[in-house]
Formats: sequence, structure tokens, C-alpha cells
Amino acid sequence: MTDLKTDYIQNLHAVETPDMIAARKRIHDNDFPIHVTPMDGRILQVLVRMADIKTCVEIGTLGGYSSLWIADALPEDGHLYTCEHDEKRLKLAEATLGSRQNTTIVKGDANETLPALAEQHGPFDMIFIDADKISYLNYLDWAEKNIRKGGLIVADDTLLKGSVYMHELPYRVRASTRDQLKEFNIRLADTKKYDSIIIPTVAGLSIAVKRF
Ligand SMILES: C[S@@+](CC[C@H](N)C(=O)[O-])C[C@H]1O[C@@H](n2cnc3c(N)ncnc32)[C@H](O)[C@@H]1O
Repeated sequence: MTDLKTDYIQNLHAVETPDMIAARKRIHDNDFPIHVTPMDGRILQVLVRMADIKTCVEIGTLGGYSSLWIADALPEDGHLYTCEHDEKRLKLAEATLGSRQNTTIVKGDANETLPALAEQHGPFDMIFIDADKISYLNYLDWAEKNIRKGGLIVADDTLLKGSVYMHELPYRVRASTRDQLKEFNIRLADTKKYDSIIIPTVAGLSIAVKRF
């Protein structure tokens, strides 16, 4: 659901390509629409350009919608590795990204595939975390080690339905997941390690520049 302000910004700055519209429709027809918004996608693109990002790892592909936003902004010699473990979603992602030279779909549980990916292709310029919340701290441990100084760690859904600042737990958020996300946010707020912020998008989008 969007409002007039969001519509205004998106119509001006975050216009989807035909491939993005097709990917979004594919997801909506076959799965749940838990992808980023066009405005989030455009923020990802601006970050890629602003920070001179060439290599990016995305954790959580779904149907490749956010992958398209990132991949379209990369330079000619840039590359996106995007991780997904769900068979049905891998098929959707293949339909969206299969013909793209600058994108590789990494199949399997990211907790298991990331170490080999880093060995083969790391260190990376940007890591976009948008998968299972319970693994966010693992992904952050991995990202910290495998991103270059000055690189970006970006994470979606870091407000976790408001649970990280509300007194009561919102519907369908577990206390254990909320606690992990709170720790994740505290770690990214460490000014000795990162210059960071949570952008108050619908889901909360964290952006951190690695200082060490
Ligand atoms: C919020 S969706 C990603 C949305 C996508 N980034 C977008 O905006 O278009 C999260 C995805 O992460 C995947 N996922 C969850 N846990 C995972 C894991 N351990 N390894 C790989 N993928 C995982 C889910 O199957 C789901 O497709």
C-alpha cells in the first residue's frame, strides 16, 4: 500500500523497468510479495553508484526483484551474487535473472554457501542482507570479515514491524527474533566500526559504511 508522498517520490525517482514489473508480477502470481519497494530499490541503486560498488552479495533473492535494482546499477565489470535456498523461489529467480551476465544465483542455505563464496570471490564491496532474521547476526559476522574497508553493509527489515522500539511484541514477531535484531542494530551503531543509520522506510533499511 502506498500514500501520495510515496507515489510522488516513486513516480519521480524510482520508475521500474519492464523487467522489474515482470519480476514483481511473477512474485505476486506465485508467492508472497515480501520484496523491497521501488523506493528501497532506488536507494540501493543510489548507494551502488555513490560508493563505487563493483561486487555485491545479496542474501535473500526471492524472485530477483531487488537483485534487478542492484544489478542494473552496477558498472560493466561489476557482479552480483544473490543467495536463495527455496526451490520454488529459485525457479522464479531463474526466470528473472537467468539470462543476466552480471548476476549469479547462489543456491542453498546462505549460512553454508557464504564461506565458499567469500573464498572464491571475496572481499566484496557491498552486502545486502534480506533473508531469515534469525541468521542476521551470522550474516553480520560474515559480512564484517568479507567486505572491504569503506564497503557497505545494507540490511532490510531492521525495524522488524516496530518490535525493536515498541514495548509490546507485534503480531507474529518472536521475542528471540526481536532480540537478535536489536543486537544486530546495536552492533551496526558502533561508531568505532561503522558510519551508519536506519532509514525509516516501511520495513527499516540499515546502511553502514565499514570503517576498519
Ligand atoms: C524478504 S525475501 C527477499 C526479498 C528480495 N531481497 C527482494 O526484495 O526482492 C527473503 C528471502 O530469503 C530467503 N532465505 C531465507 N533464509 C535463507 C537462507 N538461510 N539461505 C538462503 N536464502 C534464505 C527466503 O526464501 C526468501 O526468498
